Amino acid sequence: MTASALADTAKALVADGKGILAADESSPTIKKRFDSIKIESTEENRRDYRDMLFTAPDAGKYISGVILYDETIRQKAADGTPLVKKLVKAGMIPGIKVDMGAKPLAGHPGETVTEGLDGLRARLEEYADLGARFTKWRGVYRIAEGMPSPGCVTANAHALARYAAMAQEAGLVPIVEPEVLMDGEHDIDVCEEVTEEVLRSVYNELTLQNVWLEGTLLKPNMVISGQDCPEQAGVEEVAERTLRCLKRTVPAAVPGIVFLSGGQSDELATEHLNAMNKRGPLPWKLSFSYGRALQAAPLKAWAGKPANLDKGQQAFLKRAKDNAAAAQGKYAA
Ligand code: 13P
Repeated sequence: MTASALADTAKALVADGKGILAADESSPTIKKRFDSIKIESTEENRRDYRDMLFTAPDAGKYISGVILYDETIRQKAADGTPLVKKLVKAGMIPGIKVDMGAKPLAGHPGETVTEGLDGLRARLEEYADLGARFTKWRGVYRIAEGMPSPGCVTANAHALARYAAMAQEAGLVPIVEPEVLMDGEHDIDVCEEVTEEVLRSVYNELTLQNVWLEGTLLKPNMVISGQDCPEQAGVEEVAERTLRCLKRTVPAAVPGIVFLSGGQSDELATEHLNAMNKRGPLPWKLSFSYGRALQAAPLKAWAGKPANLDKGQQAFLKRAKDNAAAAQGKYAA
């Protein structure tokens, strides 16, 4: 694998008018999603749900790549075709979540560090053999009194950078995901300050670990008001502050920034992305790597019933198409 192949994959993931579907919910998380539509989280239901999304007609027009979970990258659809094969056939690049989740950070009650570095090299090789071309690792930062602490910020940045270097060594593009959670009553000033500090530490560590930025993507949160803050910043303010924060911290060598939705409503996630792209030109491509903001509507429309396959796929395509437009600043509500 050459460096230019890494850069080619990274660029393809943020091709004009395309973004990423995050379908890498862990088993406990997908169970929560299925609970909301009152269906059981069996291996078969998980497979059929994801097969529905991956085979939505023309999904490849708007979706560049899909982040999978360990179970899914090994799974065959009901017709016996591996799900990875279906993605590739539809023009979407398979990716894989490789972290082992956020675990309590010793000495820091209430904070976490993402684990999974032990044995990672072997797992990356296996995933590459299974067809993955890119990877994801998520660090989590909570805003509260005294949080995130310097210990949490440093530990997560270090793990993200160690992971990114190893993914590149295996020929896989690392998506670096530091997520400052939107939970809490804090205002947008606090979110901006914390996001800036977190991103600064992440790029310092990426540099220390010799990560080649041209072969990476960043998956950050947007700068928004805390979920329970009485005063919610409007779309233009979110766009302005998010761009200011990113311009201060993310080198122009990074080819693309793909946002997580993090619990924002579908409509707001799309409007924020659109407003930012309208303010271009920008040093990097700005697109999406949404989980909930792409899946909430199709999950509800599908509701676990094979007869609703078409409804589910249409709901997914609408979300994919709207966000693909927003990735070019061309979304009209
Ligand atoms: P959300 O868009 O639901 O935040 O999911 C994105 C993701 O991959 C979180 O790790």
